[in-house]
Amino acid sequence: MYRAHPNDGIAWVTGASSGIGRAVALELAQRGFKVAATARRAAELEALAAESHSIFSFPGDTTDRAAMAAMVSGIEASHGPIALAFLNAGVSFIAERDGFSAGLVWRTFEINVGGTVNCLDPVLAAMKRRGKGQIALTSSLAGYGGIAGSSGYGSAKAALIYMAEALRLSCEQAGLTIQVVNPGFVHTAMTAQIDFEMPFIMGADRAARIICDGFEKNGFEIMFPRRLAYHFKAMCLLPYALFSRSCGARRNGRGGNLRGVRSNGNPKGAEPERRVSRRRVARERAFDFAAAKQQVRSRDLNWLGAGAKDDCDAARSQALDGVRDRLSPGARHQNDRRSAERL
Ligand SMILES: NC(=O)c1ccc[n+]([C@@H]2O[C@H](COP(=O)([O-])OP(=O)(O)OC[C@H]3O[C@@H](n4cnc5c(N)ncnc54)[C@H](OP(=O)(O)O)[C@@H]3O)[C@@H](O)[C@H]2O)c1
Repeated sequence: MYRAHPNDGIAWVTGASSGIGRAVALELAQRGFKVAATARRAAELEALAAESHSIFSFPGDTTDRAAMAAMVSGIEASHGPIALAFLNAGVSFIAERDGFSAGLVWRTFEINVGGTVNCLDPVLAAMKRRGKGQIALTSSLAGYGGIAGSSGYGSAKAALIYMAEALRLSCEQAGLTIQVVNPGFVHTAMTAQIDFEMPFIMGADRAARIICDGFEKNGFEIMFPRRLAYHFKAMCLLPYALFSRSCGARRNGRGGNLRGVRSNGNPKGAEPERRVSRRRVARERAFDFAAAKQQVRSRDLNWLGAGAKDDCDAARSQALDGVRDRLSPGARHQNDRRSAERL
C-alpha cells in the first residue's frame, strides 16, 4: 500500500490556520515534507509559514469548488505533485445544541462535506493520473453514532467516514491510499466552545504526532484516543435502546457527551451529577464559560436571522478568537495540567 514520502512531492493540509491542521502542518514539515497550507485566514497562514521554511501559504475557501481546482493546479505548478493530502478543514457550531436548525446543518454540510469534496475532486484526479498518492479525510469519533445536540456536525462526519470507506475500496487498485482520521477531543478553538467534561482531551501537538504516525503506518483508520474510540465503537454495537441511554440527552437537556465514559478511563456507568457540577464550578472559577458560550451562540443565531454566510464565518472566527484569548491564561492552563495528569 502506498505511503507518501517527502521525495514523492508536497503535502497539502486544509484547515491549517489553527488547531489540528496547523499542528499537523508543522509536524509534517519537521518530518521532511514541504507543506502547502490552506484555510481562509491568510494572516494566520503567513504566521504559520514564518515558522518553517518548508511551509507555503495557499489561502482559500474550501467551499469554492473552482478555487480548489485552481489551487491544486497552482500548488502542483509551483511545488510539484501533491503526494499527501490531509483534508481537514471543518467547523462545528455550538448553537446546534440549542435545537435543530436547517441553516446551521446546511452550513455545516457545506463546509465539512462540500468543502472536502471540492478538494477531493481535483486532488484525486491528479493522483489517479500519476498512479500514486495518499489522502486522509478528517472526520471525528462523533461520526460513529448519533450524539445529542450534534445532528448536523455528527451526520456530516458520518458522511465523511462513509466517503473514505467507499473511496478506499475504489481507489486502491489505482495505487491510491485513502485514510480517515477520527479524533476524540483535542484542545483547539473548536473545543473551546464546549463546556461539558471532555474525556481524554489532548493537546493539538500530540494529536498531530499520532496523525502523522498514522500516515506512515498501514491502517485505514487513524483514531484516538484509543480507549474512547473503542468504547464508542462498542456502544455502537448495542441495540438502540441501550445506545441512547449511554449517550443520549441528559436530563437538563444539554446532552452531547458520552455518559458511560469517565475521564479516569473507567467505563463504568454514568457519572453522578454532583461530580460533574463540582468540576464545572472549578472550571468556571478560572474562565467564564457561560459568557463565552453565550457570545458564540448569539452570534451564530444572529447570522441565521441575517442569512449571510460571510457574517456567520466572520462572527464565528471573531467570537472564537475572543474565547481563545480569554481561555489562555486560566482555564487552558488548568485543563492542560489536568489532561497531562490523566495521560
Ligand atoms: N478539536 C477536536 O476535538 C476535534 C475532534 C474531532 C474532529 N475534529 C475535526 O478536526 C478538524 C480541525 O478542527 P480543529 O479542532 O483544529 O478546529 P479549528 O482550530 O477551528 O480549525 C478548523 C480549521 O478549518 C478551517 N476552515 C473552516 N472552514 C473553512 C473553509 N470554508 N475553507 C477553508 N478552511 C476552513 C479553519 O480556518 P479558517 O477559519 O481560517 O478558514 C481552521 O483552520 C475539523 O474538521 C474538526 O471537525 C476536531
